[in-house]
Amino acid sequence: MHTLENSINRENIERLVRLFYPMILRDEIVGPFFIEKLGADIESAVWQEHLLLISGFWASVALGDGAYQGNPLAPHFQMPGISREAFEHWLALFAEAADQVYTPQAGEFFKTRSGIIAGNFMRNLGL
Ligand code: HEM
Repeated sequence: MHTLENSINRENIERLVRLFYPMILRDEIVGPFFIEKLGADIESAVWQEHLLLISGFWASVALGDGAYQGNPLAPHFQMPGISREAFEHWLALFAEAADQVYTPQAGEFFKTRSGIIAGNFMRNLGL
């Protein structure tokens, strides 16, 4: 067990990400979208690459370190059947993971930002 983190850094972001995606894979609504693109084995090279990419994404959002230079929205256009319900599950699990790693104050950052980003994604996707 770790004590809850009150300051966000690259190490605890990776911990958040590595906690979150196994939860995602087990979710019956959101899991299948990930399995379709990345497979079901979180230990695979494809998944490990995804976890690093996403850690970079959150490091860029939270720390402004420029680690991520991609287009976060683009791949979500190639997911037939993606829904508001799926986004709601995604957000609930992300909040749960954040609460396991961070103090309420630091966790709030991730909850607020993920909510804003998911809202933008849904608007762009017409959901
Ligand atoms: C139901 C909701 C979502 C589903 C099913 C989903 C699914 C996925 C999948 C399967 C990929 C990998 C695509 C590929 O490599 O072909 C991906 C990439 C990504 N997702 Fe999501 N996602 C969801 C919501 C979100 C949200 C809310 C965020 C941000 C807060 C996010 C951030 C990203 C980023 C940064 C990437 C990497 C994009 C790149 O290739 O540079 N996703 N997502």
